[in-house]
Amino acid sequence: MHTKSPLLEIKDLSVSFKVFEGDLKVLNGVNLTINEGEKVGLVGETGCGKTTTIKSVLRVLPSPPARITGGEIFYRGRDILKLKKREIPSIRRGEISAIFQDPLTSLNPVFTIGYQLQEIIKHSLRQQGIEEVSKKELKSRAASLLKETGMPDPERILKSYPIQLSGGMRQRVCISEALRVTVKLLLADEPTTNLDVTIQDQILRRLDELVEKRGTSILFITHSLGVVRHLTHRVYIMYAGNIVETAHTKELFSNPLHPYTRGLLKTVPKLTGEGVSEGIQGRIPNYLNPPEGCRFHPRCGDKMEICINKKPPLFNQGENQMVACFLYGR
Ligand SMILES: Nc1ncnc2c1ncn2[C@@H]1O[C@H](COP(=O)(O)OP(=O)(O)OP(=O)(O)O)[C@@H](O)[C@H]1O
Ligand code: SF4
Ligand SMILES: [Mg+2]
Repeated sequence: MHTKSPLLEIKDLSVSFKVFEGDLKVLNGVNLTINEGEKVGLVGETGCGKTTTIKSVLRVLPSPPARITGGEIFYRGRDILKLKKREIPSIRRGEISAIFQDPLTSLNPVFTIGYQLQEIIKHSLRQQGIEEVSKKELKSRAASLLKETGMPDPERILKSYPIQLSGGMRQRVCISEALRVTVKLLLADEPTTNLDVTIQDQILRRLDELVEKRGTSILFITHSLGVVRHLTHRVYIMYAGNIVETAHTKELFSNPLHPYTRGLLKTVPKLTGEGVSEGIQGRIPNYLNPPEGCRFHPRCGDKMEICINKKPPLFNQGENQMVACFLYGR
């Protein structure tokens, strides 16, 4: 079981993107905590700000157009947003790593896959105090890492550059990298979206085994409530740049409180772009001009006067559940 000391604490994080038409006010005061050894899910429909949240943590948001307009992100007590540029690599090395939705962005285009994997293997061997290792050994280790993710023809892949691979293949490379290095926190942004259904399960289980074994904390970003249900201790539900509810996974499924969460759980397990409309009418708002007060109010069947003007904070409901909705507090 996980202990209770916080590893990552995101507090009131707000992020905008400057575009031709104006400012997209995307993140609107996000609060999210991951404790040591905890497996946490982050769920919400497409465009709600999941990737923007983890890119803020990693300090890889493109700026411009992105601008962090408020908030703090504490990693082991240190505010990541206050780090100087040259200090940023230190949080990536051995501390936080990520598997991105679009793996092209996290692979270096000018080096072969083989070279990149071997560098990672060397680094992780050094962590274990092993300095000397032959070229042949490195190559064979890189190939077997790729095989573990079900990569066809690993020998050829090792000689290829990222651009020469399909999206699914690149994702497998990133997963291989993530499996290799030992980190304290792994941010997995839909780690298996580009893979065949048959291999998805296998990879998720492998990831899960590894984080369990090493006591790594993980944030699983996913559209799949099934994944969340099976692989996480706790879940955050995100809507239009806000965390609207968090609870222990079991509790969330048995006792969802927020009207959005309740609608979400009525939908099919996979939340595709259109999927949410079965349980909830309407669409995610336009971030140029998002609704005042509770951003969910235009879609909410329980809306009250207060919801239109005032943003609901997260109200405690029992020991482990929090919900941002005026039905549960004023
Ligand atoms: N570089 C950018 N420039 C302008 N807008 C951006 C940029 N990156 C993200 N956005 C906007 O921010 C919003 C949230 O995007 P984000 O990628 O965080 O969503 P997401 O929850 O990860 O969605 P998905 O489930 O589709 O991956 C979207 O409306 C998106 O258009
Ligand atoms: S705060 Fe109001 S509008 Fe928002 S979810 Fe709750 S009842 Fe609905
Ligand atoms: Mg995303």
